[in-house]
Amino acid sequence: MPSNATSPVQRPIRSMLFVPADSERKLEKSSNLQADALVFDLEDSVLPARKPVARDMLKAFLPTYAGSGQPWVRVNDLESGELLNDLAAIVPLAPAGIVLPKIRGPEDLDLVGHWLDMAECMAGIEQGSTRIIAVATETPEAVLRMADLIKARRPRLLGLIWGAEDLSSAIGADDPRTATGAWRQTYEYARIQALLAAHALGIQAIDTVYVDFRNPQGCEANCRDASYDGFTGKVAIHPSQVEIINTAFSPSAEQIEYARRVVAAFEQGEGAVSLDGKMLDIPHLKSARKVLSHLS
Ligand code: COA
Ligand code: MG
Repeated sequence: MPSNATSPVQRPIRSMLFVPADSERKLEKSSNLQADALVFDLEDSVLPARKPVARDMLKAFLPTYAGSGQPWVRVNDLESGELLNDLAAIVPLAPAGIVLPKIRGPEDLDLVGHWLDMAECMAGIEQGSTRIIAVATETPEAVLRMADLIKARRPRLLGLIWGAEDLSSAIGADDPRTATGAWRQTYEYARIQALLAAHALGIQAIDTVYVDFRNPQGCEANCRDASYDGFTGKVAIHPSQVEIINTAFSPSAEQIEYARRVVAAFEQGEGAVSLDGKMLDIPHLKSARKVLSHLS
């Protein structure tokens, strides 16, 4: 269940850069980028006719990938007719995990989890080693059923991403943003549901893409809001967004220093302590540990 005051906190993925898997140039470039995770995409950035080509290119590329970021693969969704082919192609190459789009509810995670069990077994790789990050708000069912998702902890599930564009398309709506760039209510609702579900499960909460990739100030402000609200990382679509995201989702030197002092204040073994004239209890200790997890 969710981490408690004594369990270690895993270092979060701050930036997840999507790389279309059928683009030779972008694949090549990915080994030199500083994203915490690269998400090689077989889904929405690849045209239907190019799916087999993208799979073949990724099969050839993944064993040569030498970047510092964790290699992930966004596979196609359960209704696409492509997912089994995707899993058969990429699981034997042992990526860090799959990004599973357009889930409709927890059953989708269980089914894909079983398929991963089988694919790992056939490939002779460790059972459970392929993690899942689910895109949790791309279907109306998934948004309405978010409470079902938190009923059970699934060890493969590392995080939730929320997204607005596919939800908007699924409900026949127009631009998910208002004229000022704020999310319209349906998407703000979905965003909050995914954020709370991720934290209820003790897993990572990953913010959606900032599409205006030639606007670094806008991206920075957008990251700041997401980090303030409790998201632990963010999707990137262009290399120029990676550093902005990494910085926004890293604690500042002052935050680290303060977190160290908070942890030190609890070392006498008391549950409530005082620091700088303020009362601190376990939630402060947990927050401080989360800040320090960025250093591990
Ligand atoms: N991954 C790796 N490299 C990328 C990249 C990415 N996502 N996006 C751009 N690059 C590379 C380009 O290939 C180019 O390098 P090159 O000159 O050596 O070829 C360099 O970065 C600069 O790119 P730029 O010309 O500014 O962008 P573009 O017009 O070629 O591409 C996008 C713009 C949006 C099409 C591109 O960034 C992209 O494909 N993003 C990912 C889209 C995606 O995966 N969407 C689905 C998830 S939401
Ligand atoms: Mg999509």
